[in-house]
Amino acid sequence: MSSIQPHGGVLVNRIAAGAEREALLTEASSLKTIEVSKWTISDLDLIAVGAFSPLTGFMNEADYRSVVENMRLASGLVWSIPITLAVEASTASELSVGQRVTLAGEDGVLYAVITVESIYNVDQKHEARNVFKTDEEAHPGVAKLYSRPSTYIGGPITLLNRPVPEKFNEFYFTPEQTRKIFAEKGWKKVVGFQTRNPVHRAHEYIQKSAMEIVDGLFLNPLVGETKSDDVPAVVRMKSYIALLENYYPKDRVFLGVFPAAMRYAGPREAVFHALVRKNYGCTHFIVGRDHAGVGDYYGTYEAQERLASFPPEDLGITPLFFEHSFFCKKCGNMASNKTCPHGKEDHLTLSGTKVRAMLREGVCPPPEFSRPEVAKILIEGMAEQPVS
Ligand code: ADX
Repeated sequence: MSSIQPHGGVLVNRIAAGAEREALLTEASSLKTIEVSKWTISDLDLIAVGAFSPLTGFMNEADYRSVVENMRLASGLVWSIPITLAVEASTASELSVGQRVTLAGEDGVLYAVITVESIYNVDQKHEARNVFKTDEEAHPGVAKLYSRPSTYIGGPITLLNRPVPEKFNEFYFTPEQTRKIFAEKGWKKVVGFQTRNPVHRAHEYIQKSAMEIVDGLFLNPLVGETKSDDVPAVVRMKSYIALLENYYPKDRVFLGVFPAAMRYAGPREAVFHALVRKNYGCTHFIVGRDHAGVGDYYGTYEAQERLASFPPEDLGITPLFFEHSFFCKKCGNMASNKTCPHGKEDHLTLSGTKVRAMLREGVCPPPEFSRPEVAKILIEGMAEQPVS
């Protein structure tokens, strides 16, 4: 097994199996049911498989308040993003502490049972300001928060059924599985890479720079809910496969998805992303420019500063920080301001908006920005997507 400890020391497993599952299913038929969103189902699954260790369920009031105020659970363990279950006030008023409730999807599947430990009301604006550093609805994470009720229920969960991926099933692994795989490969140092985008040359450059000092790369794209103008996960997956096929040594890279929703919480999400990758068995985690950022809400290196503000032993995973990187025409290389003496006029930088516009028109961005194999898949993928 991988030598790195999960966050909190124990890899959580809340998946019911065998007789326990049968008994729960029988019990479930007499319990009240709450319908939950796809986002909540993804949280449920990630809790159950241990990706969110040490969480064993949705946060109770003490953990929620402590996380919102101090980026720590009530136990003192670092945790930066509230993982909560919001319910309508009318539903909450019918619940009491100690009650067990089933959580079902819109598809009618019973996903989990929760034991209600805490029922509480929150100030969403306060949560938004602390977690997202803004209470503006223009921020996609804040808009999502405001779209949910402001009554939360917390308590431990047990998963009865795992959500079934629509596509790319073979790239879904539990932390227990990835830890085993890394150990089998003999990787002692594993660097995790979070992305919600296609892997362009800048991403490749920082990944490969990191690969020089570790044994393996865990390419771990986020494939849960993202904002509508991000490239869809199914298109991105095709592009990652093509990229790895052509430009990465097979025995040094492992591709597995991170089925979480994107919060766009910048610095706080970077901390969360790092801790979760530790649970998957990574020893190192890449943080480049404006990690998990959106618009101009966060400073370019704010996520790095936030991670650096914790004592290393409190994180237990080593963040690897990278400067904004680009292709420099004069260097004839990928570079950053740390390695390149030339001016902006020699640097090839394209905004995400510009690149998406090019791809929609069927135009390949320059190969110094994106590998042609990747650009081709993105163009085909964009052509199949409704224009937003
Ligand atoms: S994120 O929301 O998942 O962070 P993205 O997929 O673009 O977005 O980024 C993945 C990782 O690559 C993040 O750590 C980000 O900081 C880093 N990154 C993206 N583009 C660059 C770049 N040009 N230079 C340096 N780091 C970058």
